[in-house]
Amino acid sequence: MHLMSIAQSLTLFATAAYANTEKVIFSAPPAIRIPDTGPLLETLQLVSLSAKSSKERLSLAVNFPSEEQPRGLESWYLLRDLSPTQRYEVRVCWAAIQPTTFWLDTYTVDHVFDTPPLVQSLAAFSLERQEANSQLLTGSHTGSDQESLLFLRLQAAADFFSSNTTLMQDPPPVDIDLLLDPYLGNFFPRSLLPTGTYIVLLAIGGWWVSGVIWKQYFTPEKAHKD
Ligand SMILES: *[C@@H]1O[C@H](CO)[C@@H](O)[C@H](O)[C@H]1NC(C)=O
Repeated sequence: MHLMSIAQSLTLFATAAYANTEKVIFSAPPAIRIPDTGPLLETLQLVSLSAKSSKERLSLAVNFPSEEQPRGLESWYLLRDLSPTQRYEVRVCWAAIQPTTFWLDTYTVDHVFDTPPLVQSLAAFSLERQEANSQLLTGSHTGSDQESLLFLRLQAAADFFSSNTTLMQDPPPVDIDLLLDPYLGNFFPRSLLPTGTYIVLLAIGGWWVSGVIWKQYFTPEKAHKD
């Protein structure tokens, strides 16, 4: 029992460590023809997440919310090589010492290109990236000419107050992990499988221990029943 309670308090810590997580859950759209959009997608120079590279560690510029940018700064990513109709989640994880509010949204390629505010935001972000990185990302994408893909928009606003005016005018970049996680059987995120297995084992263990205790301490009482 002592061991069990130690194990249980450890799970509490594990949840606390992941507390700063924001996510979006979506089903992958049907595949579209890439020859139409392929060259355009490569020139955008976005960071891509796919089954092969499902995790990116990034240093993200943030702003405090303002009139023009109520949700801080926007950044754009590509989710590539998805399996149509498969359910996924994208998670952003960050440290508690960098208080930030995040909003995640996924959009199909058509939706972005048909919505002027979205395409403007994407273009502005892409241009900024191209100016900052002189060396171009080489498109590592080689696949069939059909692909299921989505745009991911991340909005990040600093969420703290400091008496230090330097910090308030120019909040420091936030270190984030961005993760693409497919669901197993469309209901359970694959990367959480070890944690899930652990919790299930813990539950079975607890059930077994309670059975033993029940037998040892309570069954004789039952004999008194008349
Ligand atoms: C304000 O924060 C900046 C950045 O962390 C730091 O360099 C500076 O020393 C701070 N100023 C004061 C008055 O604490």
